Amino acid sequence: MYYPEELVEEIRSRNDVVDVIGSYVKLQKKGSNYMACCPFHNEKTPSFSVSASKQMYHCFGCGVGGNVFTFLMEYENYSFVEALKTLAERAGVNLPEMEYSDEAKKAADLKSRLLAIYKEAAKYYFYQLKSERGAAALQYLKGRALTDDTIKHFGLGFSNKFPDDLYKYLKNLGYEDEILRQSGLVTMEESKGVYDKFWNRVMFPIMDANHKVIAFGGRVMGQGEPKYLNSPETAIFDKSRNLYGLNFARSSRKDYFLLCEGYMDVIALHQAGITNAVASLGTAFTPQHARLLARYTKEVALTYDSDGAGVKAALRAIPILKEAGIRAKIVRMTPYKDPDEFIKALGPEEYQRRINEAQNSFFFEIEVLEREFDLKDPEQKTRFFNEMAKKLLVFSEELERNNYIEALAEKYMISFDNLRKLVNRYGAQM
Ligand code: GTP
Ligand code: MN
Repeated sequence: MYYPEELVEEIRSRNDVVDVIGSYVKLQKKGSNYMACCPFHNEKTPSFSVSASKQMYHCFGCGVGGNVFTFLMEYENYSFVEALKTLAERAGVNLPEMEYSDEAKKAADLKSRLLAIYKEAAKYYFYQLKSERGAAALQYLKGRALTDDTIKHFGLGFSNKFPDDLYKYLKNLGYEDEILRQSGLVTMEESKGVYDKFWNRVMFPIMDANHKVIAFGGRVMGQGEPKYLNSPETAIFDKSRNLYGLNFARSSRKDYFLLCEGYMDVIALHQAGITNAVASLGTAFTPQHARLLARYTKEVALTYDSDGAGVKAALRAIPILKEAGIRAKIVRMTPYKDPDEFIKALGPEEYQRRINEAQNSFFFEIEVLEREFDLKDPEQKTRFFNEMAKKLLVFSEELERNNYIEALAEKYMISFDNLRKLVNRYGAQM
């Protein structure tokens, strides 16, 4: 869509750069300008300057600069159109509708109605959590060491014990049965009537990268099956294309992302100040997830559960990340199961240390392979070296391959030449 220059100009002029940037960083007035510590590089003394008269910003430290649009594009990782839409909404400017076909119009309309319903539902669940009925749920979340700020930040909620409370609430707001059925938030069956999908669960709204609620996960409080219930896929929710926490992580300004398994892991990490964590939810990590991540980062530290299933999931995710051009590292969390438990036990500093020490994904794969063999047995040891040699063939660059051969030869006390010979033998067979 092409937006006319005058409209872009109007939106720019209606969004004061000082106000907009001031909502992200703490600005201090210095003469006719405003100063802050630069949000685009690490610094202790402010060299980031915002000019109200020029409506521009500039950092004397790292050299970034631009206007209110480029700021949002840099800071939020927005495209120009996303930045334009955000600022138009902020200033109450109506953007002209695109020229849609009837079919596209219908699809867009369905999506926006579903988004409206999910937004209402999220508000409703949040309100329930804070009401008297939600006392046990609130206590559950507090028991998991979440603060009020965190609960609000992630918009956590509660679906109460009435069988059709949300349905009635949404009906009252004027939504028809048909769209409510399509939302997946209520179930309608001839025999049983209408009831809410979520019942007596703590609710985790799932947001897209632009903070719009597109689905929910609901957890039982305590024991029960299933532990987590997710809302179904709809016109607005495709679980293989969304990552929990991405709406916050995208503006974390770190050069790598953390990838973990669960809602609670993401929340615990963000609460601990580690805001670059995301999770793929109730589904294995997919190539679409990887491509989504590749828009924001080139490196991922995997922090999957340290049990057998988590290791398997990590081994599956590594090549998918690689395929999307993302390097993977593995965070060791032993003796704890997941980031949530780790942080509760040892705190964020220790966790950050583990991130810093994260293991190269190839060494991780070799280490997992090693566990299948008893290296004291010469026959098994030989087989292990052969398997290792086959794996080394993934490195097609000679220098890189030799570097890995050198490191592994040293670790497993085999000579460089012998290991390289073995690798070359498999290479020749390909
Ligand atoms: P807590 O027990 O609350 O700490 O959860 P967790 O995140 O540690 O759970 P776990 O490692 O068991 O699961 C990881 C993620 O898988 C969850 O966050 C859910 O998204 C998903 N998941 C777990 N159990 C279920 C389930 O029973 N059904 C579905 N659909 N998804 C689940
Ligand atoms: Mn957990």
